[in-house]
Amino acid sequence: MLDDIKRINHEFDAALAGANTAAALDELRVHYFGRKGGLIPALFARLKEVPKEQKKDAGDALNKLRDRLESELNEKHERIAAEESKRKESRDIIDVTLPARLPNLGHLHPVTIVRREMETIFAEMGYSLDPGPEVETDWYNFEALNFTPDHPARDTQDTFFLDVEPYLLRTHTSNVQIRSMEKYKPPVKVLSCGRVYRRDEITMRRSPMFHQAEGFLVDKGIHIGHLRATLEHFIKRLFGADSKMRMRPSFFPFTEPSAEVDMSCVFCKGAGCGTCSQTGWMEILGCGMIHPQVLRNVGIDPEEWNGFAFGLGLDRCAMIKFDIPNIRTLFENDLRVLQQF
Ligand code: DAH
Repeated sequence: MLDDIKRINHEFDAALAGANTAAALDELRVHYFGRKGGLIPALFARLKEVPKEQKKDAGDALNKLRDRLESELNEKHERIAAEESKRKESRDIIDVTLPARLPNLGHLHPVTIVRREMETIFAEMGYSLDPGPEVETDWYNFEALNFTPDHPARDTQDTFFLDVEPYLLRTHTSNVQIRSMEKYKPPVKVLSCGRVYRRDEITMRRSPMFHQAEGFLVDKGIHIGHLRATLEHFIKRLFGADSKMRMRPSFFPFTEPSAEVDMSCVFCKGAGCGTCSQTGWMEILGCGMIHPQVLRNVGIDPEEWNGFAFGLGLDRCAMIKFDIPNIRTLFENDLRVLQQF
């Protein structure tokens, strides 16, 4: 018995020296003190068999062994735990020389980019921004703009009517012409960008909600040359200095004369390609000289004042500028798309 105690005493030192993790120490503790098969409990069990005269010595030696092993295991356990927590602490120390982890910043939507550019270009020319409401009355959306109640042009703007008459969702931003002319005395120059709504199916080119920009100017002695120069400046600024434009006669109830403006295709520079149906031109906006009746409707004397107006689709501009073939791409909020801008 005493020999066994001596041997265990001896072996323990080497075993303890080799156990350098909390897990290894736990294993050692089980090896010596485990209730099933632990060496120390086994020795205590054997104490019964020791002859009476040796029992006291053996018991003393065994108690000593147990106390020593226990206290050394505990001591080392504490040391290792302290070391591990120190190591963890040093991992948590902030290294100020590391590059900063930047927050995930948002991106501007392509339509927002075009809108802001357009607002900048027109602000430089002295235009004010005026948003105007999306829920509008028949008067501001149609009648004051010279769409009489049975005017056929109403049919080209299939309208979402609200349950409460005479409210509707505006079909174009031209309502702002009326609202701003009522608010400000001429001379006025206003640009207005916002959402408009039409009962259209979603296709590659159409969506029931889209974005328009409307601009107009009322002053004295304004003629179509002012309109043309303004639009040409805008198109060259937004799409590049080599862009050309042309005007084709058209019809809108609120302008007379009216025109549609094409610009040289940004993809083929006018040579003709699939995107412009080989014409070299892309339709970009509608415009004209403000109809005298529209001025009269807001109490401005058309003998004294006149002006021009123009309107265009911002989504279409973004699609042209960023070569996006499908309008749906603009409204799906796919991060793989949005993160490119
Ligand atoms: N409001 C027209 C539309 O939605 C666009 C337009 C055409 C606006 C001619 C104008 C203009 O100001 O003069 O189709």
